[in-house]
Amino acid sequence: TLLSHDCVPRKWHTEGRYGSRTHRVNAKIGLPLLKCPQTLHWMVSVLSGNENATGKNAGNSLYIASTKHKDEDSKESLLELLRTPGVELIYKKPILSNRIPVVEPFDSTIHPERKPENFESKMLDFLRKIDVRVEECEVSKKRKWNLQDSVATTPCSFTFCELFAGIGGFGVALEALGGKCVFASEIYEPSRRIYRDNLDTSALPDGGSIAGDIWSVDSKDIPHHDILVGGFPCQPFSTLGNQPGLKDDKKYSGRINGIDDSVLRDSKKGGGRGQLFSQIVRVLKDCQPSAFLLENVPGLIVTDNGNSLQTILLSLEEVGYKVTHEVCSSRGLTSQSRKRLYIVGIRQAAKKNESSKFCSNCSPTSFQFPFMPDLGLRAIDVLHTEKELNDFSAASVPFDLVQNISENEGELTPVSVFQLSDAQMMQLRFRSKKWKPAKLAWHDKSIDTIDSHYGVTVGKGNSQLVPCPAPHHPRRFTPRECARIMGFSDSFVLGTSRTKRSRNEWREKGNRSAFESYIKEQYQMLGNAVCPAVIAVIVGAIIAQCPSIVNSIDCVDCIDWVDRGLWAGIEIALDSLAPAKLHVVLRRLIRFYQEQKESEIKAVAPQCK
Ligand SMILES: C[S@@+](CC[C@H](N)C(=O)[O-])C[C@H]1O[C@@H](n2cnc3c(N)ncnc32)[C@H](O)[C@@H]1O
Repeated sequence: TLLSHDCVPRKWHTEGRYGSRTHRVNAKIGLPLLKCPQTLHWMVSVLSGNENATGKNAGNSLYIASTKHKDEDSKESLLELLRTPGVELIYKKPILSNRIPVVEPFDSTIHPERKPENFESKMLDFLRKIDVRVEECEVSKKRKWNLQDSVATTPCSFTFCELFAGIGGFGVALEALGGKCVFASEIYEPSRRIYRDNLDTSALPDGGSIAGDIWSVDSKDIPHHDILVGGFPCQPFSTLGNQPGLKDDKKYSGRINGIDDSVLRDSKKGGGRGQLFSQIVRVLKDCQPSAFLLENVPGLIVTDNGNSLQTILLSLEEVGYKVTHEVCSSRGLTSQSRKRLYIVGIRQAAKKNESSKFCSNCSPTSFQFPFMPDLGLRAIDVLHTEKELNDFSAASVPFDLVQNISENEGELTPVSVFQLSDAQMMQLRFRSKKWKPAKLAWHDKSIDTIDSHYGVTVGKGNSQLVPCPAPHHPRRFTPRECARIMGFSDSFVLGTSRTKRSRNEWREKGNRSAFESYIKEQYQMLGNAVCPAVIAVIVGAIIAQCPSIVNSIDCVDCIDWVDRGLWAGIEIALDSLAPAKLHVVLRRLIRFYQEQKESEIKAVAPQCK
């Protein structure tokens, strides 16, 4: 209730004990609330019975004080509380508590020194253009503004091959830049299905089929492509495991409820998952694309005292590439802090022979990781709105999966099925050392990294949760929220069923365990993915370094690819927000960049004198 009235609840509020921790205010007992002008206005009108009353003294923090506080446990809503005789509003200086996470603003811009000239002005123009589009969509009742209406995308074409494709995080970015996928490999059928549902597979071999196990792929079957991309499995290098690195012989990362035996038998042809990387080297050696972009966890840098990374970099250089690597966080372009290691390679022969074809303005130097702005996105920009929380399809959960879940009393809503059970909440509060309220996805905070185990052991405090209005326990992110957090737009279709079971079987089961298996699979696929916005910016900068790609693109104008990547990335980032929040974020950004521009003008003015 408190949250729905824009008041920030404390730990005890989310535990449903919102009446038990009270403050003494002028000899009365007060329930501290953080103020918000609208809430204040509303409360004052309820208390005074006068709709037009306004809150006075709004500069201070707000307390609701009741002389009958002992009765508060029975109150089910703030409205009831407000109507209780003896309840009044008291304005007082806030008492700072370490229980409310203080959100320190910090700048997550990557390589600010490489910021393009007049970036603030260009950003303002860009944001205003999108703002007008959003308004037009609202007026014409179009579902939402999305990339298909893109301002940055103009036709052009380069080709790419996506290994370990997953649900296609790379593909989303490369398609936004005008690329066409000519080969993709992914062993896991549900991921392949999502890939097919969302990306253009028309140019894939055999009428659009995604190859399975990479060990079984013959390089001769991979068509020529300009860029190779792939996020090779990270379990051998992840700090969440014991980092066996390249020596990891495990055949396949265990899937929830296992994976088809036939898949495992196929993988036995080759090595374990620590050696899957060798397959990238093989394809690079045989196909010689102009460039590649690989992604993995930063833990790779420290695995085996750095020897794993050295081996990887050396083997990539040995097949003819100049290799650069850097850890970048997605924090600036998504609402999530997700640090990942990106490895970029540019084919050397291509550079030597073809750079002369570049025009003088865009002659390539050596690859540098590009500038990425900080859009200051936060949890509230991607979390469900109240309205969405009444709609299973908005949360991307097939209703037939949940309709028979009856253990929760009351209305069946996404909140009720995603919130922690009493047992999980008890485990979290009393047995988990990691749990503290500051770990919740508070509206003003950025979200912690979503990994492939998200939502599996919630009681242990391993997964970030969303605070829910008392008396509800906190809840997990829905799959749609996870997709937004990763930077996928709402038009990105998520899965509807699993491989091994038919949809009918799900429907018949319709119980908690079927639902759990389904959403864990969704979390796993999304937690494994890459953030498309970050990829778009990096790939733009890669293409700018590849004469062979730039020259092969049939385009009248000389495209500034670094610029193109940057704007495509920003656009993907904005497209992944909760549609209902886009307008607010645009206004916030427009205000921010307007101020930036003005302060820059002021800073320059005295020098002119
Ligand atoms: C880190 S994820 C990559 C996710 C992807 N970049 C995305 O955006 O969704 C690694 C992927 O490699 C796949 N994989 C593992 N072993 C494989 C193999 N032998 N052949 C093909 N794909 C494999 C996994 O199923 C998983 O989806």
